Amino acid sequence: MDRHLSLSQAARLIGVKRGDIQKKIQENKLTVMEGTVVLSDLKKAFPDAAYEDNTMLEKMEKFMQDAVHKMVQSERDGAQADALSRRIIKINKELAEERKQAANMEELIDGMKQKFIELNVISNPEHAFNEIRQWFNTAHNALEEDKLTTPVEQLENQIKQFMLPHVRLLPSRHDYISDKSETLLESALRSGLAVDYGCNNGKCGKCRAKLLSGQVEKTRHQDYIFSESEKSQGYILTCSNAAKTDITLETEEAVSADDIPLQTIASKVKKIDHSSEHVIILTLKTPRSQRLRFLAGQHIELNLDNYLQDNSEPVNAEYSIASCPCEPSNLEFHIPVNNNAAFAQTVIQDLKNNDSVTLEGPHGSFVLDEDSPNSLIFVAWDTGFSAIKSLIEHAMSLDHAEAIHLYWMTTKVENHYLDNLCRSWNDALDNFTYTRIMCEAKTDVVAETLMLHLHDEHSHLLNFDLYIAAPGHLNHLLKPLLTSHGVKGQNMHFESTFHGDEIID
Ligand code: FES
Repeated sequence: MDRHLSLSQAARLIGVKRGDIQKKIQENKLTVMEGTVVLSDLKKAFPDAAYEDNTMLEKMEKFMQDAVHKMVQSERDGAQADALSRRIIKINKELAEERKQAANMEELIDGMKQKFIELNVISNPEHAFNEIRQWFNTAHNALEEDKLTTPVEQLENQIKQFMLPHVRLLPSRHDYISDKSETLLESALRSGLAVDYGCNNGKCGKCRAKLLSGQVEKTRHQDYIFSESEKSQGYILTCSNAAKTDITLETEEAVSADDIPLQTIASKVKKIDHSSEHVIILTLKTPRSQRLRFLAGQHIELNLDNYLQDNSEPVNAEYSIASCPCEPSNLEFHIPVNNNAAFAQTVIQDLKNNDSVTLEGPHGSFVLDEDSPNSLIFVAWDTGFSAIKSLIEHAMSLDHAEAIHLYWMTTKVENHYLDNLCRSWNDALDNFTYTRIMCEAKTDVVAETLMLHLHDEHSHLLNFDLYIAAPGHLNHLLKPLLTSHGVKGQNMHFESTFHGDEIID
């Protein structure tokens, strides 16, 4: 079996830069599938490279075990250190297993809640009860099977993954892997691709695509009727078909905010996380049949349907979407606690799980320039991090950028409310750097502090795209400063939709 490698792994293996590999991909001398390249293709594209054909994963595991072992030994003297290091490794494995079980249980409970909601609208109680019992047995059995999976079975599953059908989209040349249990649309969305769709259940025809090669199989009944011309050209609905073999599809993808339609979607509150003193993290769930189409970095109006203003309109406000478009049915928003606006106060004091929230949008053009070959610098002031988080997660799912550097600036250390997440990106990804900055909330001080960091940490800014989410007057001041450091207008992107700690002019 040929080995699949991420671009970072491939670059390390043959001792070249990720940019060199990306260049070969752009020249069509190397194929990338869902952010991975195949070892044999890599050898053909770089025939002169010195390969260190090792078993990278085993090496990595040994390296980590040795590192923990050495760390413990240096901190503790005596014979117990060795036993202690082994114990830490064992506990880490147990912790990972427990986390997985907790996530599975949470999913089961969410599914159960959803079923109970559906149960309310079914008039025949016996039928409803049978349906819920059947659903629970299936979901529970799936979890039990998952628990019984041995390392060998896990490896087998990974190998099967490599054998899954590959889908190529034209004209974009985007590639993704499509699990046969998913529709072509679902796996494209999971891969972070902005393909067109509407109802997600075979009615509207918006997801239609021309099948240029390969075979598909129907996964559900479709109401949409193709014209004779569409039939003869081989059109299919991606929401109603799965890939049977490797396939090529001709389809439209959104490349700019103008390609995304305005939508009105009724969502429910899934989770209200009060764990930070500075920010509430609100998660909304959309119906399966009506997921939100948006580009990373955009914002949207939230209407709290159960809570009305004096004019009888729902309490509303516009917030950046903090999650990745690859998860279109679970949307995350960061609501600052110190904001006196009616919306923030209602979320803090009254909003509860399962309340309805109507979404209207999305808006904004603070989106990733996917055609740019440049490395990425992200700058967030306070809760400007929400839009930046969405962009970073999207950039990671595309795996295009050679380097990503995040600067998160606030007035105090505890206002970095997702510091652990940023640190974990920093630790897990070899092309990601995180710099946490605390400084006084004055426009000139913030601008000067940022410019000093950029100057110290990058010899020049010519090969970077900068994405900055901060209050408008700070953005205004930064623009000429960055221009004087050689950054071109098209490489600077600013977002000012902002509810966090203000900066004094
Ligand atoms: S999304 Fe409506 S038919 Fe596929």
